[in-house]
Amino acid sequence: MGFTEKQEALVNSSSQLFKQNPSNYSVLFYTIILQKAPTAKAMFSFLKDSAGVVDSPKLGAHAEKVFGMVRDSAVQLRATGEVVLDGKDGSIHIQKGVLDPHFVVVKEALLKTIKEASGDKWSEELSAAWEVAYDGLATAIKAA
Ligand code: HEM
Repeated sequence: MGFTEKQEALVNSSSQLFKQNPSNYSVLFYTIILQKAPTAKAMFSFLKDSAGVVDSPKLGAHAEKVFGMVRDSAVQLRATGEVVLDGKDGSIHIQKGVLDPHFVVVKEALLKTIKEASGDKWSEELSAAWEVAYDGLATAIKAA
């Protein structure tokens, strides 16, 4: 079954909830990533020199990019059934030594962050829609 209009709407609406408090959710997102993969800290220019996860413009911008790109992937999956990158997003991950297990960790952190942002609007269906959109995007990034 293809990505449905309802799944797209679920991703869109929870993406709006994330955007209501982006710095709070961005910090939560990276906190979960580092709990699961402490060694990933050194990969991020905006984390490697700080004691913990400290909010900064770069940290917020990167988190918003990740959540925004997953949302865009949901739109693309619904419209065309596939995710196409706009070009430059693959190679940075190879340069930084990002491996498949990191993509799993980031997915788990993204889903937990969306659960927190969604509050009582959260459902298994909403989470599954994010997961499908993320997996489509991660596959496109890894293939790039
Ligand atoms: C950089 C997106 C997964 C680590 C970036 C950039 C984008 C991006 C757009 C900036 C690229 C540029 O400016 O040229 C994504 C998306 C992901 C994802 C959409 C998942 C679907 C991951 C994972 C890791 C990771 C799993 C490793 C844990 C990094 C690092 C940078 C980066 C270390 C450089 C950031 C810096 O130090 O400024 N990512 N990424 N990314 N990404 Fe990802």
